[in-house]
Amino acid sequence: MGAGSFYVTTPIYYVNAAPHLGHAYTTIAADVMARHHRQRGEAVFFLTGTDEHGEPVAHAAAAEGVEPQELADRNAARFLELTPQLQASNDFFIRTTDPDHVARVQAVLETVRENGYVYEGTYEGWYCPRCADFKTEQEIAEGNTCPIHHIELTRENEQNWFFRLSDFQEPLERLFDENPDFVSPKSRFNEARSFIAGGLQDVSLSRRGLEWGVPLPWDPGQVAYVWWDALLNYYTALGVADPDGGLEETFWPPDFQLIGKDILKFHAVYWPALLMAAGLEVPRRLFVHGFLLMDGEKMSKSLGNVLDPVEVVERFGADALRFYLMRDVPFGADGSVSPAAFDARYETELANEYGNLAGRTVAMVHRYRDGQVPRAELDPELAEAFAGLPDRVAALVDDGAISQALDEIWERVRRCNRYVEERAPWQLAKDEGQAGQLDVVLASLIEAVRALTVMLSPWLPESSGRLLRALDAGDESWPAARFGAGSVGTVAELEPLFPKDPGPAGG
Ligand code: ME8
Ligand code: MG
Repeated sequence: MGAGSFYVTTPIYYVNAAPHLGHAYTTIAADVMARHHRQRGEAVFFLTGTDEHGEPVAHAAAAEGVEPQELADRNAARFLELTPQLQASNDFFIRTTDPDHVARVQAVLETVRENGYVYEGTYEGWYCPRCADFKTEQEIAEGNTCPIHHIELTRENEQNWFFRLSDFQEPLERLFDENPDFVSPKSRFNEARSFIAGGLQDVSLSRRGLEWGVPLPWDPGQVAYVWWDALLNYYTALGVADPDGGLEETFWPPDFQLIGKDILKFHAVYWPALLMAAGLEVPRRLFVHGFLLMDGEKMSKSLGNVLDPVEVVERFGADALRFYLMRDVPFGADGSVSPAAFDARYETELANEYGNLAGRTVAMVHRYRDGQVPRAELDPELAEAFAGLPDRVAALVDDGAISQALDEIWERVRRCNRYVEERAPWQLAKDEGQAGQLDVVLASLIEAVRALTVMLSPWLPESSGRLLRALDAGDESWPAARFGAGSVGTVAELEPLFPKDPGPAGG
């Protein structure tokens, strides 16, 4: 990373099925980080994409009686479509069936072999075809089942190429011990660190008898084990997107890689080891978020009992989904989500707290001052409530604490609503003698709404844009997040940002 550049990634998602809320979750979180870093004037590269090879996809295609490529094309299209629907601002979308990715994977694997980390051997052990994971003894649930998918593991005995993971025992221990932030949260760091401490065994580099994958350059009868093909997307994408090497030079290695807790071992152990074997720099930070638990749902009046990302976005807009997911589940922890909880957050927080604060502030400027924001001093009481806020928010986002960053901002949304109640502008307006006071209150509230909206824009990119346009205050850069940095002149009419009844899908 050069000074002032930021490279953030999501996992690439399997195309064995359509995207669901869990996929949307990681993409939204990465997008919040990407947008925030762009506000700070950094060069940002935000990558997402699809993982199209391997058994998870081959099996799903076979079950449907179609070719893997056909299934991959169909479902990749749905992921490609969902990304802009979520307002994700990714700079590139990688598909692992892209021939350029395939060639670049082959080149890296060839290097790993030339560096002496590959040998032929026999794998004998347990395997989960849904995880595409060779399970170690500690990773097997009762009755030889997969602890994630609860299906029976298969017994594999195959001759293939191996990667000398065991050679990286000490380098990985050092990586973890010298970089306490390499994996966050700490519990996940410890989990990965103890997996390493348990002793690393060599792992398959290729699969025999599976055709859907990247052929090994030195043994085209075998394909690369899908995890190597998939992990390498984070590296190949920069070259696929820019064959001249400029992106690689600016952005490698990744600054933040976001993943769910299901794929920790691959990212915290296999991935840095592979990069070391290839002579490439390892990522700076891996952030492991929890799982959205989607069962045990109460019915919601508008969404029934399914929280389908596409449906939510069509009815309520991308901002509502983004806000809900980032707010209801502290990033890093597991949490239940439900349509009923979505409704509650939408109504109490987006509509009644933020939407109403913006709406009534703008309306009061129209009502009492003909849409002209008074040129008045800002109330020191609000200034104090906002003091240091942008720095705190930036520090939290830098640490992956994007829900806490949102909490900090939201506390000020509430503070502003209390301020309105305390100052009661409608009372001040009744008394000509209080005109100066009313000017201060209105100017301060408009400035507060503006600064809040700049800070919130990574979470609420659509509504923040609308609101800032209504205030004719388009500067969304980070310096503009400071209370007192702006000067709004006139305000336009503002339609409700978060209407109480957004109507039927597509309406
Ligand atoms: O594992 N809650 O793909 P995948 C939160 N292709 N996040 C969830 C989730 C849930 N309930 N369900 C899924 C793969 N996710 C591999 C990755 S990367 C080189 C290859 C999110 O389609 C979360 O980010 O199974 C999780 O890690 C990812 O989707 C798994 O997606
Ligand atoms: Mg999975």
